Amino acid sequence: MSKPVLLLTRRFPDAVEARAQRDYTTIPNPADVPMSGSQIARAAAEGEAVGILCAAGDALRAETIAALPEGVKIIATFSVGTDHIDLEAAAARGIVVSNTPDVLSVATAEIAMLLILTAARRGGEAERLVRARAWTGWAPTQLMGVTLEGKRLGILGMGRIGQALAQMARGFGMEIHYRNRNRLPPAEEQGATYHGDDTAFLGAIDVLSMHIPGGAATRHWLDARRIAQLRPGAIVVNTGRGTTVDDPALCAALQSGHLRAAGLDVFDGEPKIFEGYHTAPNVVLLPHLGSATVETRDAMGFRCLDNLDAVLLRGEPAPHKVG
Ligand code: DGY
Repeated sequence: MSKPVLLLTRRFPDAVEARAQRDYTTIPNPADVPMSGSQIARAAAEGEAVGILCAAGDALRAETIAALPEGVKIIATFSVGTDHIDLEAAAARGIVVSNTPDVLSVATAEIAMLLILTAARRGGEAERLVRARAWTGWAPTQLMGVTLEGKRLGILGMGRIGQALAQMARGFGMEIHYRNRNRLPPAEEQGATYHGDDTAFLGAIDVLSMHIPGGAATRHWLDARRIAQLRPGAIVVNTGRGTTVDDPALCAALQSGHLRAAGLDVFDGEPKIFEGYHTAPNVVLLPHLGSATVETRDAMGFRCLDNLDAVLLRGEPAPHKVG
């Protein structure tokens, strides 16, 4: 019996590609050149794909989904975020969408912690100083940051990643505050303080870590008005989606000194980033590394394949179906 055809829109980790090749006829992308929506639809049609393994950078908008061949049953995205896929258009065509929850929570929380530490302790500026051969020796007032112990960390979006970050931050002696759709009694049993409205939340914290999904509902959630509600000297970190931040407003607050620093792993329109960030010394910039560990990327790929196998090999529901 011939194997089902699977389109891989990117080059995935070796172990993931090996398992995909074992069970499917794959249409690979070995050069890892990002594909446009129309290229994805064309490759799927030409290869008669029944499944698509895609990633967060692939825009699967309504017109792309409409152009997919009749046989496509599932789009498995190698990400927890699904804002790059028009879920309504997929549902209208009867195409299952699956994602990769859980397996990237710790890795992403680690990057949030890295950004909090780097922003608070001025790690980016310090590294650039040494690398530029401009360090002239230890000085009592050089590059002083702020200590995290006793500071209030505000977690916006207390899902799995937010909860993993809370656990790490407690190890640094931070006090945990959170804003979320629902209250989480287990988090509160561990000392986290829930805030029922944005103003009280933003006014109570020293560090804001953002973990909300992208999409129209959260676009520019952190705007000039909310930034002004943060305490002077606060730090902002974003490992969720870049679209949730109004970049000119954040940059202005970093330049005016209202905010001490920021750490960003995600950007609106990435890989392009807002020009002002390039020259702001107090912003730490990472290239969307949240889930980028060997262990996590393998686990994400296997989770995608578990979903594809369920639908395409066994005719069962995808275990991590979205929506
Ligand atoms: C996700 O999973 O949504 C990340 O942003 C990609 O690693």
